[in-house]
Amino acid sequence: MQFYIEPEVSWTSWLNKACLSGNDLTELGSFLKSKLKGGTFIDVPCGYEYKAENELSVFEIAKELGVYGFIEVDKYEEALGERLNNSNRVVDEVRVSTHQADILEFLFKKELNQDSTNRAFYISGLQPDEEFCKEPSNQSDVAVPYLHALYEELARVSKVGDLVILNEANALVLGIDENIYPDIHPSVALPTLGFKCQRTCQYNKVQVFEKV
Ligand SMILES: C[S@@+](CC[C@H](N)C(=O)[O-])C[C@H]1O[C@@H](n2cnc3c(N)ncnc32)[C@H](O)[C@@H]1O
Repeated sequence: MQFYIEPEVSWTSWLNKACLSGNDLTELGSFLKSKLKGGTFIDVPCGYEYKAENELSVFEIAKELGVYGFIEVDKYEEALGERLNNSNRVVDEVRVSTHQADILEFLFKKELNQDSTNRAFYISGLQPDEEFCKEPSNQSDVAVPYLHALYEELARVSKVGDLVILNEANALVLGIDENIYPDIHPSVALPTLGFKCQRTCQYNKVQVFEKV
C-alpha cells in the first residue's frame, strides 16, 4: 500500500520534544533508554534524513538512547538515496543497516523475535492517502486490511519488552471512517495484541507501546 508522502513536515521535531529537554533526556526519553540500551532502533518508514536546525535526527536520538543497532527502512529509493550504496555500516559505533522495502514486506520477511535484546519499531509520519481513502472500497479492501496486517505483524515479531513508538497514532488512521472500523486505531488495536501504552508525551504526539 502507498501511504501519503508528506514532504518536510518534521515529525522528528515531535520526537525531539518527547525525548529531549535541552541536553537532558525527558522522563519519556529516560524510559526509552532504560529499555533500548544495547538494543536496536528500527525506523520504519525512515523517509529522507531530515532534521530541523538545533534538533537531533532520529539516528542521533537513537544514539542518545544507547542503542547498539539502527535499522532504517523505506519503500522508495529516492527517500533512501546514497544510504543504499552502503547499506551495512558502522556510524559512531552503532551498526546501521538500510533496507528498501514495503513495511509489511520487511516485517513479514524478518524473524525479528529471535533477537535477545530489545527493539523499538518507530513508526512515524505514516498516514494513508486521504484522497485514496475517499473511495470506501479502498478503505475496506486496501487500507483497513493493510493496517490490521501491520498490527498483527508487529505483534508476531515482537517479544516481551519490545516497543512500538508511534508518532503519531492518529496519523495512521487519517481518512479511515472509525465509525465503520472502530478497532482500526492503533490505540485500540495494539492492546488487543498484547501491547500496553506505557508513555505518551506532553503533546500526545509520541506514544510508546510495550509488548507485555
Ligand atoms: C511522511 S514520510 C515520514 C518519514 C519519516 N518517518 C519521518 O518521520 O519524517 C512517509 C514515508 O513513508 C514511505 N512509505 C510510504 N508508503 C510506504 C510503504 N508501504 N512501505 C514503506 N515505506 C513507505 C515514504 O517513502 C516516505 O518516506
